[in-house]
Amino acid sequence: MPVRTVIHGCAARARRLRTHWPKPQTSAGRPPTTHHIRRTQERSGHMASTDLDPPPIAVGDTPAQRKRNTGEVPGLRSYGLLYGSSPVMQELYAQIERVAATDATALIIGESGTGKELVARTIHDYSARKDAPFIAVNCGAIPDNLIEAELFGHEKGSFTGAVQGRIGYFEHANGGTLFLDEVTEMSPVRQVKLLRALETGTFFRVGGNDLIRSDVRVIAATNRDPVTAVKENGLREDLMYRLAVFPLRAPPLRERDSDRELLAQHFLAEMNAQEGTSKVFSKRALDVLRTYSWPGNVRELKNTVYRAFILAEKTVEIAHPHLASRVKKPVTQGDAMNVWVGTPLADAQKQIILGTLKHCGGDKRRAAKALGVSLKTLYNRLGAYENEDTESGEAGSNNES
Ligand SMILES: Nc1ncnc2c1ncn2[C@@H]1O[C@H](COP(=O)(O)OP(=O)(O)O)[C@@H](O)[C@H]1O
Ligand SMILES: [Mg+2]
Repeated sequence: MPVRTVIHGCAARARRLRTHWPKPQTSAGRPPTTHHIRRTQERSGHMASTDLDPPPIAVGDTPAQRKRNTGEVPGLRSYGLLYGSSPVMQELYAQIERVAATDATALIIGESGTGKELVARTIHDYSARKDAPFIAVNCGAIPDNLIEAELFGHEKGSFTGAVQGRIGYFEHANGGTLFLDEVTEMSPVRQVKLLRALETGTFFRVGGNDLIRSDVRVIAATNRDPVTAVKENGLREDLMYRLAVFPLRAPPLRERDSDRELLAQHFLAEMNAQEGTSKVFSKRALDVLRTYSWPGNVRELKNTVYRAFILAEKTVEIAHPHLASRVKKPVTQGDAMNVWVGTPLADAQKQIILGTLKHCGGDKRRAAKALGVSLKTLYNRLGAYENEDTESGEAGSNNES
């Protein structure tokens, strides 16, 4: 049987798919918008995790106008959907600007919560494809045996349960951008199919004979180091090189010293504007925001601020995310204990004292000897901690084992 090539209206980068396939309909009977596709896929759990649907970018079209001071938080700059003024972010903005002007495949590398999806959306929004769909797919959330059908579509009857034919994300994203999050999680067999589609711009639907061409720009993301992923996690080297035509690094918050407080103020301002309030951070909250290392990156910071905002009357307090539980229960492992980076000295001392006492089975004489202080000093400290905890309503909690 000869292979027929079905080419969608690439020239016009048409939003609508010119296909003989049944189009998914919205409840109003209209063809799907990106938003509709997003919602549909969110329900099936495959979409990359977006905490909030970002608003469309509404800034000037010239590169200079795109980089702007936010106005709401002094010193905070933004670019597209991204906020941050630190040098590593300025570098990222410059790279986004360069890659957005091209059709190159990009690979965004960064820890979870560093804003990889926002980087991808910003590239899309500043590219010539901005009026066509942006579709985000979380490859790690799709069972491997379904991923091919999800990406490329399938014909009716092509596998058990395929009662209807469906087009895949590559066709949905025609004219636009397909964001493949956690791309390293695909099995090597599926990676071969993806590589082929990237190299030829064509693919077959599962069970189909028609060669389909779709005009899609692919942006991929991973939270693994790609070279390690090739060595240890089954990422194909050829696919890695094909994806990483233009690699971008989303920096973790611990490398963005000046941004931590600025971002927190930005999220607080957003919440205040939304709720019509004027809550402010306490001095201690600001200290925590600045000194904690935020291993969950912007996502952790944002969620922490939102949670604290909801709990606050007027002054927003932020407990050191690890400290509260650590002080109650020192993390000891045999002879060693963990003290988190950024722990205030007084708190660290408290943990060491309580941890040592616990390690000595509550024997104060032994603990004092181990700590190199007199028994009297140890008693004084423990007494002070007891008073502190009574004042803050945590009586007795320090002596938990
Ligand atoms: N630079 C940034 N400016 C503003 N918000 C950000 C930034 N980076 C991340 N976020 C927010 O943090 C959360 C996680 O971002 P996301 O792009 O999903 O991260 P990733 O894909 O790297 O896990 C989202 O709510 C996003 O809006
Ligand atoms: Mg993500």
